[in-house]
Amino acid sequence: MSDTVFPVPADIAENALIDKDAYRDLYQQSVDDPDGFWARHGKRIDWIRPYTKVKNTSYDYHNVSIKWFEDGTLNVSANCVDRHLEKRAGQAAIIWEGDDPSEHKVITYQELYAEVNRFANVLREAGAKKGDRITLYLPMIPEAAYAMLACARIGAIHSIVFGGFSPDSLAGRIEDCGSTLVVTADEGLRGGRKVPLKANVDAACDRLSGHEPKVIVVKRTGGDIKMKDGRDVWYHEAAENVSDRCEPEEMSAEDPLFILYTSGSTGKPKGVLHTSGGYLVYASMTHQYVFDYHDGEVYWCTADVGWVTGHSYIVYGPLANGATTLMFEGIPTYPDASRFWQVIDKHKVNIFYTAPTAIRSLMGAGEEMVTKTSRKSLRVLGSVGEPINPEAWMWYYNVVGDKRCPIVDTWWQTETGGILITPLPGATDLKPGSATLPFFGVQPAVVDAEGNILEGATEGNLVILDSWPGQMRTVYGDHDRFVQTYFATYKGMYFSGDGCRRDADGYYWITGRVDDVINVSGHRMGTAEVESALVAHPKVAEAAVVGYPHDLKGQGIYAYVTLMEGEEPTDELKKELVTWVRKEIGPIASPDLIQFSPGLPKTRSGKIMRRILRKIAEDSFDNLGDTSTLADPGVVGDLIDNRQNRA
Ligand code: WTA
Repeated sequence: MSDTVFPVPADIAENALIDKDAYRDLYQQSVDDPDGFWARHGKRIDWIRPYTKVKNTSYDYHNVSIKWFEDGTLNVSANCVDRHLEKRAGQAAIIWEGDDPSEHKVITYQELYAEVNRFANVLREAGAKKGDRITLYLPMIPEAAYAMLACARIGAIHSIVFGGFSPDSLAGRIEDCGSTLVVTADEGLRGGRKVPLKANVDAACDRLSGHEPKVIVVKRTGGDIKMKDGRDVWYHEAAENVSDRCEPEEMSAEDPLFILYTSGSTGKPKGVLHTSGGYLVYASMTHQYVFDYHDGEVYWCTADVGWVTGHSYIVYGPLANGATTLMFEGIPTYPDASRFWQVIDKHKVNIFYTAPTAIRSLMGAGEEMVTKTSRKSLRVLGSVGEPINPEAWMWYYNVVGDKRCPIVDTWWQTETGGILITPLPGATDLKPGSATLPFFGVQPAVVDAEGNILEGATEGNLVILDSWPGQMRTVYGDHDRFVQTYFATYKGMYFSGDGCRRDADGYYWITGRVDDVINVSGHRMGTAEVESALVAHPKVAEAAVVGYPHDLKGQGIYAYVTLMEGEEPTDELKKELVTWVRKEIGPIASPDLIQFSPGLPKTRSGKIMRRILRKIAEDSFDNLGDTSTLADPGVVGDLIDNRQNRA
């Protein structure tokens, strides 16, 4: 961690939407009088029926309930598209850059309007209506944005599943929310390689018991796929027969907009539910101020729409603001490691938002890959998904941003809907590795293990004391799980699951998860999910999974596996288990290291002592703490002797 301070550059401060004084004043207003503050700022979007109520939220453990602008009505797609037609019909809404550098497309707001309306009519034709759940399993093509906005237009709830998830994971998510419709593509294209999306949907449907959703297929590659009669339709065929006008449905502020599955400490991924009004106010406001977005600028977030970052900061936030948002189909290293910087020059990108894992992997390719490009258009850089190590921060700042561009290190979560702790380019002096200060309306606090609020410079667990409009409302179909996960650890507070340090300037430094969630290349993974995939293998008796520091990925996946009686611990079997987990969950869950361990450290009541496993995986086992409470302290020596991660 570094305490060097990078002051706000004078030219940025001069033109910034929010400067130091404005930040101080607005932040103060937002916490002194949340109702008044959000009553004013809620008006940044268009309402069909204006709200008269603003904040109605309770963090009381016995009655957790979160409502914002509850008597207002609106339509999210009308806010992201229709309302810009008057001023920006001919402006680029989406710049799409294909996997292959020879392919790109510009979609104006006028065109976006026609596409979204048509897509909405195709969904309606397929039987979808307000409140239905629609699963989207799509590559990064403009149709992904059309489909999201089309759902919003007709009041259907989308649930996007990242294209890297396996048929099993997809089936689980379709089933959990009872989707009646799946939208996919024939194949995806990433780094020149094809992703068999439609085949995965077929396999997922085979696993569903009870119901069979309809499937709409967008043609992307023209690859050879099977279409099932009566179930599957081609999007381009269905689109021929519908009009390009579809009246937006009038939705209540608290009607659901989307479900997004995310990993937690225990059990299956949970369906994080976001609603319409508060979410859009918060996503659009953070997009504008955190990136200091000025009219006409080209903004690029490199996330995938399968993650929350893609929802809030590729689609909803930017489009609600009438911005030009760039959507990239490919990967940072294809055709080579200069791709990001080439795309920035090609489309004159002003604001660039990516993840530390991408930065670290591109650092390795050498500075020349960056410096041979101009990047003169760049003004603001952003980081998200995991703590950014100061070394990567400095490289991003010096080499990519030519020491001119502030870096906004944005801390937030799927659950928070939008950015909560972050610098603002014109208002916040930067410290490499710190997410700095809270956004308007956000009241972070640091607590100890008992939930006592710690003051001043300190370290502990990160909680948020009161609600903000973009907060998730519930776990789909399981409100009790919502309460237990976020409001039971520290009563009366939202618990983030992250640890943090606060320095003498009040700056927050996120130190990483304190629960059994790990962060692999910026992707959230529940260790419990990987464990249950492993034990589903017939040769595995037991498994325990922990994270360990990994140079490129941030954290790697370390699996301790106990085999069934009589099974041979071979390298062959290790490979088989890696393939197995990829098939069960998806490539992002591949274990990096597997250690066959005849026994795991357990308490006498049978609980696995993860603290010990984590230390051994980190290769720092000198101080394992008290092991005398273990049922069989003898297992520890074997675990250390056979550790896989040796310095
Ligand atoms: C981590 C991604 C440090 C954190 C938007 C959080 C970060 C989890 C940062 C949420 C950051 C995200 N600095 N850590 N700037 N941003 N995280 O739900 O551990 O995929 O709890 O949302 O990522 O991951 P999720």
